[in-house]
Amino acid sequence: MTKLVVVDRDGVEHEVESKSGLKIMETLRELDYGVAAVCGGMCSCATCHVYVDRDWADRIPAPMSDERELLSELAHFQANSRLSCQVEMTDSLAGMRVTIAPDE
Ligand code: FES
Repeated sequence: MTKLVVVDRDGVEHEVESKSGLKIMETLRELDYGVAAVCGGMCSCATCHVYVDRDWADRIPAPMSDERELLSELAHFQANSRLSCQVEMTDSLAGMRVTIAPDE
């Protein structure tokens, strides 16, 4: 198990257990305050949108073109936006902090 810090849409911080090898979305969609992940990780809905804390953003692989394209269409896009279904949890990301983005 690997620790993930999640800031909900009310700004409340939660420490949750994630699992190395899982997409972060798979942890976030289990939470009441998490993400909807409507497409189930197919990179087509953007309802798994999060902001990765800047300290961590450089430590995860850069988004592929389909993720970049979808993110760029979002009203709440920021430089540290990611689709959590495209980010894999690893042990080296223990303690990573992500903020659930507002609903589109
Ligand atoms: S779950 Fe749909 S884009 Fe991530």
